[in-house]
Amino acid sequence: MTPSTELQRPIIKTSLPGPRSLEIIQGDEQYVTPSYPRPDYKLVADHASGVWITDPDGNVFLDCNAGVAVCSTGHCHPEIVAALQKQVSELIHLCGTDFYYRHMPELGKKLNEIVPIDGPTKTHFANSGAEAIETALKLAMYHTHRQKFIAFQSSFHGRTLGALSLTSSKKAQRLGFMRQPLDVVHIPYPNKFRHFVTDQQTDEATVTRDVLTWLNRVFETTTPATEVAGIVLEVVQGEGGYVPAPTAFVRELRRICDENGIMLIVDEVQSGMGRTGKMFALDHHEGVKADIVCMAKGLGSGMPIGACTARADIMDWHKGAHASTFGGNPVALTAALKTIELLQGGLVENSREVGAYLEAGLNELKQRYSVIGDVRGFGMMLGVEFVKGSGDDPHAADPELRDRIEMACYQKGLIILGCGANAIRWSPPLILAKEHVDVALEIFEEAIRESI
Ligand SMILES: Cc1ncc(COP(=O)(O)O)c(C=O)c1O
Repeated sequence: MTPSTELQRPIIKTSLPGPRSLEIIQGDEQYVTPSYPRPDYKLVADHASGVWITDPDGNVFLDCNAGVAVCSTGHCHPEIVAALQKQVSELIHLCGTDFYYRHMPELGKKLNEIVPIDGPTKTHFANSGAEAIETALKLAMYHTHRQKFIAFQSSFHGRTLGALSLTSSKKAQRLGFMRQPLDVVHIPYPNKFRHFVTDQQTDEATVTRDVLTWLNRVFETTTPATEVAGIVLEVVQGEGGYVPAPTAFVRELRRICDENGIMLIVDEVQSGMGRTGKMFALDHHEGVKADIVCMAKGLGSGMPIGACTARADIMDWHKGAHASTFGGNPVALTAALKTIELLQGGLVENSREVGAYLEAGLNELKQRYSVIGDVRGFGMMLGVEFVKGSGDDPHAADPELRDRIEMACYQKGLIILGCGANAIRWSPPLILAKEHVDVALEIFEEAIRESI
């Protein structure tokens, strides 16, 4: 199941970034768009295997980010590589929007078996998370004959114009683009660690009640529920800080959608494909099903793919309503089919087991370091929120400390990435083993100690 993990620790042998990495960074600065939201530290990859990334200077890093929750089966998993090599020698492209090949119905059937949707489903294939979201938005509008959406503050759904109308995790994502094309009302996300009014810690029942009261006011004032096409939910908010929604809240949203003919669109782009220790984050909320589910990231082990799966009776649009030249490319679909096989063959379980081990270790650190305000999440989707920890307001967010810790980890060979204002996300490849966790936690603790 796990590719070679003989190497036990990162190896840092140059100053970082090293000279060869710096050449690439300089070329990038000259020729590549400056709009990418790269962190302060500069990791350049040359090659990678399993949980290890090697840079052009020969430094080896332990990867606990997986290319932002994408390399679910680890880097270059031998079975993924073999399946892709076979596929590229047989059929690379034929444009599934005009012709047929086996991969589309095969993956559609597989997703039908695993997505948290009641009854038969159909799938539209895309190339990215944002494209999967675009599909969901268009489909919900088409099916309901309505145009409005409800989304959440601090959500992230992508940067294409439709998806950007939903996205609200950072000002930089919208700055300069002025009006949004879609009519979206943002309501607070039920974050119990920071109540949206008090900024204080509260409990699930209180934050659930308060967000639902807010939603009700929206329905009663600006946006009648009967005009809403869809509510778009990240069951665990990703870019916004790895914040899980309470079960009672998710259940209530389902009820509200049922009562008002609203589509419950669940964005599993980051939280799906085993990341949370179950195949989908929504599976943590027993009995609650979506109308439409969006997937991407971990679905293809690094191959670009997005998918939007909906109840078959909802996906009732006419021929020509939505399609994409590359979406559902046979090479990307081969990666997805093999990825799901590996997930079902043990990686979801590993995500749950080793994720719990990582979470326990992070909670131990929380006992010892008052600057760790919160450890949260499921499986291998864990957020650690940094706070002042002392002084007048120990609960106050400490984004600078988070940034220092992120940088110190990089310097020591551990790759982790921030999310939200002051959290660090742990989104390792799902092949991560307990021995890797021990090394990662040791480095993380050193980084915290040096950065306080
Ligand atoms: C929850 C969620 N939805 C959508 C997207 C957009 O995906 P992509 O970057 O593939 O367009 C992301 C990307 O981070 C995401 O985390």
